Amino acid sequence: MFNKRIKIKALLAAENTGVDATVMGWVRTFRNNQFIALNDGSTNHNLQVVASLGEFDDTILKRLTTGACIKVTGQVIASLGKGQKVELKASTIEILGDSDAEKFPLQPKKHSLEFLREIAHMRFRTNTFGAIFRIRHSLAFAVHQFFNDRGFVYLHTPIITASDAEGAGEMFRVTTLPMDGSAPKNEDGSINYKDDFFGRSTNLTVSGQLEGELAAMAFSDIYTFGPTFRAENSNTTRHLAEFWMIEPEVAFNDLEDNMDLAEAFIKYVIQYAMEQNKEDLEFLAQRLEEEEKQKPLTERSEMGLLDKLNFVVNNDFERLTYTEAIEILKESNYNKKKKFQYLIEGWGVDLQSEHERYLVEKHFKKPVILTNYPKDIKSFYMRLNEDGKTVAAMDILAPGIGEIVGGSQREERLDKLTARMAEMHIPAEELNWYLDTRRFGSCPHAGFGLGFERLVQFVTGMGNIRDVIPFPRFPKSAEF
Ligand code: 4AD
Ligand code: MG
Repeated sequence: MFNKRIKIKALLAAENTGVDATVMGWVRTFRNNQFIALNDGSTNHNLQVVASLGEFDDTILKRLTTGACIKVTGQVIASLGKGQKVELKASTIEILGDSDAEKFPLQPKKHSLEFLREIAHMRFRTNTFGAIFRIRHSLAFAVHQFFNDRGFVYLHTPIITASDAEGAGEMFRVTTLPMDGSAPKNEDGSINYKDDFFGRSTNLTVSGQLEGELAAMAFSDIYTFGPTFRAENSNTTRHLAEFWMIEPEVAFNDLEDNMDLAEAFIKYVIQYAMEQNKEDLEFLAQRLEEEEKQKPLTERSEMGLLDKLNFVVNNDFERLTYTEAIEILKESNYNKKKKFQYLIEGWGVDLQSEHERYLVEKHFKKPVILTNYPKDIKSFYMRLNEDGKTVAAMDILAPGIGEIVGGSQREERLDKLTARMAEMHIPAEELNWYLDTRRFGSCPHAGFGLGFERLVQFVTGMGNIRDVIPFPRFPKSAEF
């Protein structure tokens, strides 16, 4: 069988020398015409393969270039070099795929993240991106483990939809109508979507929440985990046009249950990655430490990556209301000395990321859950509080990231919900299916959405969200 091989991670972990083994992978370096550093992606550690002098043809040795793919059979022997217990003494080396050393874009040296983003199809083969995407995998697996252990049903919500879940109007249109001006028009000149593929105007989903709520009214506990799309023109280190979101929705939960679930969930998945990806996290922690050294002392973070993750797992998140947060911000030195770009003058304004980061990084120095926001800055489906002016919303803010979770208790009372929709000019006829849940067996329920890439960013310590998704989509960029 061609594929009878041992993965390098397993080989490095095994202690039994003297046995024969076959490995396959990509050459990272080849030095002294003798030592191949081989990597197959199962771990960041390379296997040292020894091609003893005089035992291999020059024609083969010449083809052992950085990036080449090879198959090696040999004997596992104790390693004399430091850094690894075992190495492989090659008896046969087969070239599976040549790599022209002159043209291969990844030279064995440090490349900038910006450069690597331009060759995103190749960056998986670097230590940094190897570590990031193995951690991303573990986190995704942990998401399913967490909810499965708690009896949640994984719900696949549609990617093409006619609804605008957030009422935010930042959607990508889906259409098969011609773009050359010949699309059918209504009398007023607007496009007539009756002739479009779905017979109506459709878009890519911005959130699976509304559909998730329908299923929660049957299964009690559901979650979604899928791609979402936002056409907001945000060129920041925390926004993507295509990102993955996890959205649990739970019948009979109130806002406090919702916060408890979100906090337990975040701690669980971080803990899981810390157990499964110890070496990769240590590598990234080291990387970050070196990056931090380039910064002026005042801007360096107080904690290393692993300390920060441990701290989050082992400490309660700070919980406070929006009103309390506004008080803190208003009285802060940053506000008084006009260090905020947007000064906090009073109650009712939306918080900017500079405010969120102040609360998390300067004031509390830990994750913060803000609750009970003014209704006017939040979505129509959030439950109106007794005071008539705030809603049972919650946002979780993480150090270095800002908002990582947005959620709420939902408005389960039909009259209150339709009144709110009317206020916000959301046409009730289009959301009749959603309102049916409130007509037939409505109940208190709550849910939230966690941005998966922001979570991966937090865990890996990467500064730019474009480096934690394999092929990032953002304004003016949809390469690969
Ligand atoms: O706060 P948002 O917009 O909430 C919702 O979509 C709700 N329907 C969720 C729910 O209650 N079920 O988005 C949720 C999270 C944010 O907190 C953020 O982490 C992430 O999604 N997010 C983005 N991540 C990357 N790029 C973007 N453009 C993002 N927009 C939101
Ligand atoms: Mg939000």
